[in-house]
Amino acid sequence: MSFDWTAIEQEAQKEINQAETAKGLEGLRIKYLGRHGLLAKATGSISTLTGEERPEFGKKVNILKNNLIRLLEEKTRYLKEQKAACACGLDWTLPGVIPQSGSLHPITQTIQELSSIFSKMGFIVVEGPEIETEENNFSGLNIPLEHPSRDAFDTFYLKPETRKGRFLLRSHTSPVQIRVMRKYRPPLAVIVPGKVYRPDAVDASHSFMFHQLEGFLVDDDVKFSDLKGILAVFVKKLFGEDTKMRFRPHFFPFTEPSAEVDISCIICKSNQKNKCSVCGGKGWLEILGCGMIHPNVFANVGYPRGKYTGFAFGMGVDRIAMLKYGINDIRLFYENDLRFLRQF
Ligand code: PHE
Repeated sequence: MSFDWTAIEQEAQKEINQAETAKGLEGLRIKYLGRHGLLAKATGSISTLTGEERPEFGKKVNILKNNLIRLLEEKTRYLKEQKAACACGLDWTLPGVIPQSGSLHPITQTIQELSSIFSKMGFIVVEGPEIETEENNFSGLNIPLEHPSRDAFDTFYLKPETRKGRFLLRSHTSPVQIRVMRKYRPPLAVIVPGKVYRPDAVDASHSFMFHQLEGFLVDDDVKFSDLKGILAVFVKKLFGEDTKMRFRPHFFPFTEPSAEVDISCIICKSNQKNKCSVCGGKGWLEILGCGMIHPNVFANVGYPRGKYTGFAFGMGVDRIAMLKYGINDIRLFYENDLRFLRQF
């Protein structure tokens, strides 16, 4: 008897592929692998072969047998899975659904980046409450009663007034200077990221809520040059090694002397020949306010007069994020538009 092994295997494969039920598959198993099946018959005919032909023949039978067992097993498993899938209403052959993964808000990412730079220089991160006392937000910081920032046009006041005085939504992160210094003695190197509130009309560069990052360092002998050094490292790390910095004299009640700091425009690199839309052709971008902590502030927190010196600075996180990512409208951060947020 002679067998066309390839043809048999192809035929069996076709039949197994077409089988749609476990019963049909069992029929095929009997047809090929059963006691009276095709392979049993083939094995039975081995006696008709010569001694030389037998090993080759035996090998062929074994290969075919193993292949058919595998094909039958695979199809049995497939039918079982399909049955289970149908029972629970699932079609496992459909393409999968990609899970939606979230990401950190660009403001959070910016705060983390700023915090990481200052942490490496030894600053610790402290947070304070968004509801503050007038004392911490103004008086402790040497801001006089008649100062315009205390006006209800510039600060959100909360009702009702209590025995402890008025509460408000902090208008800057500086009150955390007061909180930390009342509790701890120098040396202190602290940064404070957080939300602040001002009743500004909302437009492309204003929001009634935005973010600041405050920093301060207090010790026995802190000098303005220390402030300059720390800020120089900071702007280079954040905006690149070739970023230049300049200090302009300014006024804040809680620092003396005070300054505003500009950096060379990160877009046009202060190349004023082209009219740059980011710096308005000025070549410089204002990024923060700073100065040496006023002696009255130290007195207000109970530090002995003349014992300590220190510097403080405060920057707008939203503005830095806008510069860094090239965003021209602050409202984009707060509208929860996923087309915007997904880009970060
Ligand atoms: N608190 C100031 C502001 O909101 C910024 C600042 C902080 C200035 C610390 C000097 C020192 O504008």
